[in-house]
Order: sequence, then C-alpha cells, then structure tokens
Amino acid sequence: MSVERVVLVGFMGAGKSVVGRALAGRLGWRFVDVDDLVEAQAGRSISEIFGADGEEAFRLLEAKAAADAMKGREVVLATGGGWAAQAGRLESLPAGTRSVWLRVGAEEALRRAERDGFGRPLLEGDDPLERASRLLSHRVPFYEAADVRVDTEGRSVDDVTTRILEILQEFESEIGTE
Ligand code: S3P
Repeated sequence: MSVERVVLVGFMGAGKSVVGRALAGRLGWRFVDVDDLVEAQAGRSISEIFGADGEEAFRLLEAKAAADAMKGREVVLATGGGWAAQAGRLESLPAGTRSVWLRVGAEEALRRAERDGFGRPLLEGDDPLERASRLLSHRVPFYEAADVRVDTEGRSVDDVTTRILEILQEFESEIGTE
C-alpha cells in the first residue's frame, strides 16, 4: 500500500503547521491543520475552548477533527502537540498513513511559540520553560512511536520538508521491492 496520508506530530513550536503546508505544496496534496479545523468546527478559538470548557473538552473536539481529516486521501495533517500524546494514537492510524515526529527541545519550542504569538494555554503561567520541559518529557515516549523522527533545530523549513520527502520516497521504494 502506498503512502496516501502524512501525519505530523510533535511538541508546540516544532513547526508542524509550517512544514505541513510546505510538504503538502510539494506533494500537490491537501493540507489540514487540525487546530484550525477544531476552531472552525467549534466556532471558537482554542484559547476560548480551554478557557470556557477546559482541556478535556478540547481533546474531544480535537479527536473528532483529526478523525475527520484522517478520512481524506493525499492529505498532510498537522496535529496539535497533544494529539499524539494519548495512548494508542500512533498505533492505530489508518492504512496508508505515515507519522512523522518533528523534534524540538523545550527552549527552542518556547522561543518559536513566543515568536509566532499564537495562544498556547498549556504554556501560560509563571515558569513556561519548566512547564514546557515537564510536558515534553511526558510526551516524548508517545512521539517516539512515530514512523520517523526528523530533527528541526537549526534546520530551515525547506530542509525539514526535503528530508521528509526523501524518507517518504524510501518508504515507497521499500514497498515496491517487497
Ligand atoms: C497543544 C498544542 C497546540 C493546541 C493546543 C494544545 C498541546 O497546538 O492544539 O494549544 O497540548 O500541546 P500546536 O502544537 O500547534 O501549538
């Protein structure tokens, strides 16, 4: 079965959205940002959902949005940083799906999150670096279940995208020789 769906996972600030958009462009596929889909389906921003209804309510909306997006073919999905960090998520992807972990450390993740300015309720508080480090350590074992890992620190969006494309081609050729 050839690759018909790519799911990008990883921590906040890993570059899932920007790389996902670039990757979809180069593949000629559709791009879905699951956070944007949650907001569109709920008619509210993520900060509003967290503020009014809490994280659990957000996770349910996120699960539904990701499942909806996963029905498509020739699609690249950028998931939110918490989506993959739930038991069994990466082990039960539909056939034809490849998962890619975009790796970033806590300090760089925070720098990027501050730079791009989107509200990340989970990083708000007195000591964002401590929060980010703790959350990241908890999540790494989940992210490690992805099919591939690509480091993003010190690499441009273009480099990361090219590396993912190379890996996808390797997958396709392995399948071709089976
Ligand atoms: C979250 C990450 C955010 C967004 C929400 C929760 C998380 O997405 O889904 O704020 O739990 O890590 P990004 O990873 O795109 O920032």
